[in-house]
Amino acid sequence: MTMNQRNIVVIPGDGIGPEVTSAVQRVLESAGAAIDWIPHHAGLAALAEGSDVMPPETIEAIKEHGMALKGPCTTPVGKGFSSVNVQLRKKMNLYAAVRPVRSLPGIKTRFENVDLIIIRENTEGLYSGIENEVTPGVVMSMKVATEVACTRIARWAFRYATHRQRKGISVLHKANIMKLTDGLFIRCAQQIHKQEYPNIGYQEHIIDAGCMRLVQDPSQFDMLLLENLYGDVVSDLCAGLVGGLGVVPGANFGDEHAVFEAVHGSAPDIAGKNIANPLALLMSAVMMLNYIADRQGDAGAGKIATTVRDAYDRALEDGCKTRDLGGDLGTDAFADAIIERL
Ligand code: NAI
Repeated sequence: MTMNQRNIVVIPGDGIGPEVTSAVQRVLESAGAAIDWIPHHAGLAALAEGSDVMPPETIEAIKEHGMALKGPCTTPVGKGFSSVNVQLRKKMNLYAAVRPVRSLPGIKTRFENVDLIIIRENTEGLYSGIENEVTPGVVMSMKVATEVACTRIARWAFRYATHRQRKGISVLHKANIMKLTDGLFIRCAQQIHKQEYPNIGYQEHIIDAGCMRLVQDPSQFDMLLLENLYGDVVSDLCAGLVGGLGVVPGANFGDEHAVFEAVHGSAPDIAGKNIANPLALLMSAVMMLNYIADRQGDAGAGKIATTVRDAYDRALEDGCKTRDLGGDLGTDAFADAIIERL
């Protein structure tokens, strides 16, 4: 059973992005993934070529080919550039970010058997990018919530919970303070739960107390549904429960397109040293192969996803680890260790 040949856009990104991306491409090729990569730039790499941080050609290519594997991108701070990632997610309406946070074999952390799914609303909230200076010394950032987007993400989360046979959804919010915006977010979730998915468990937690409960005992939660900023912050918090940013993958879904990328950023502190962990992006690529299998009925893609997952599980069990996980392998050596186990 082989995978059908297909084009996929690849955005190597900035910082550690090109290193982890090429390691992942090597693993996928060795596993027999039939992918013709269509390279495009975003972030600093695009600026260096004289384009905008989010070039229209990159967006067009993702629309044409339906999906992308993306390395992390750096947005220059305080130079008038709006975030690469926020632009991409908004322009392509990639409204649902999914971040599975799971314990991995061979990685000792405080908790065993962590199995959380974070669903983050990706298009509005405080990341609407509407900021202004009211008067010198007074600035404002607007938090936007719309009924359409809050309902859409709630419905997406409950549908996902049903397909994946998850136990329940917990919304983390601050509706006690942000009564209108977070109030709307929880009201939409309550409505979808009550009217469309009454059999899926549903809870609400004020986010500060919810975070405390998460780090005390993550098994109290199953799926987390959050607005944009909370989803961003809580994703990194949850990464800390299973070994860090090197091991948490992600995907951004719209109705038509999908972009697969790790939760971590471009990690300028370790860029260019061949020490970054490529696993988070590799796990994102496994999500991509499973998506191809589900969406396009390509069982070959699903089989390769399983082969790659088994290989990295075995590599970790055998003690092959990068430095962030307490090992001593570099990016390329870790990719080689996975390839040996395919
Ligand atoms: P970061 O995630 O890049 O790094 C945080 C810490 O985690 C650093 O100590 C870094 O060395 C470590 N780390 C991250 N990924 C790692 C990996 N694969 N292996 C080993 N260690 C890893 O977050 P930071 O420093 O806040 O952001 C740096 C840049 O990345 C910023 O320009 C930010 O805008 C951008 N960023 C981009 C994202 C994306 O493109 N999806 C997401 C998050 C941040």
